[in-house]
Amino acid sequence: MSTTLQHPLDDPRADPFEVAAAAAADIAERTGVERHDIALTLGSGWAKAADLIGETVANIPATDVTGFSKPALAGHVGSLRSILLPSGKRALVIGARTHYYEGHGVRRVVHSVRTAAATGATIMILTNGAGGIKPNWMPGTPVLISDHLNLTADSPLEGATFVDLTDLYSARLRGIAKSIEPGLDEGVYTQFRGPHYETPAEVQMVKSIGGHIVGMSTALEAIAARQAGMEVLGMSLITNLAAGIQTTPLSHAEVLEAGQVAEPVISALLARIVGAL
Ligand code: HPA
Repeated sequence: MSTTLQHPLDDPRADPFEVAAAAAADIAERTGVERHDIALTLGSGWAKAADLIGETVANIPATDVTGFSKPALAGHVGSLRSILLPSGKRALVIGARTHYYEGHGVRRVVHSVRTAAATGATIMILTNGAGGIKPNWMPGTPVLISDHLNLTADSPLEGATFVDLTDLYSARLRGIAKSIEPGLDEGVYTQFRGPHYETPAEVQMVKSIGGHIVGMSTALEAIAARQAGMEVLGMSLITNLAAGIQTTPLSHAEVLEAGQVAEPVISALLARIVGAL
């Protein structure tokens, strides 16, 4: 299949699970690691965790792997890392997220998760930077995702594929995270399409329908992870209070800065959680 003429996932006849299997084979070949146990997608503010969880065995550009797209955003590192954990388990760190707002379709958005599953991973850790609705969540606060509201009006599932999403964000894994950091709060993540931030009215709507965190990723990926039979742990770094909850305007610079300030602390926390899995 040509990669220059057409992205393999843009061909409607392509089977996304076959593309993911090809990607997993590329990862095995390039890293020399046949199977992985745990996969982590590191969003804004979480990247340093990759340096802390274990010994990096291989670090490859994601664009060398079938089906991965170039990162759209500076600050999102487009690499895949194979890490040997102290426990002897293997972690695949995905530093290349394709966002739904890029407009490449949901197949490309969830390709990394399907690839992680095809490498053998049974636990998927999804992290992001997001806006907070609870006023006591100061920028820099990490929170567990307990459930989600998917407001993209889209799904990674195709056809009559009915997948149960009860306990999508594993209570078992949240329990392990809380045993490491008892102060961790949790909330319902709400995925919007983006890339615009929400209006204050949208944030009030989220609040009234039971959401606590607003962002532009994760929910679609979590659904794909569940379809693949993985256990999901979701964590958000609150980079700002959501629009209208904070009185000042939102900016990408503010989000990045909050991520940089919080990064050492939340990365160390995530490393300790991974160590306990
Ligand atoms: N809304 C949506 N996405 C975000 C936000 C937000 O307030 N902050 C960081 N990512």
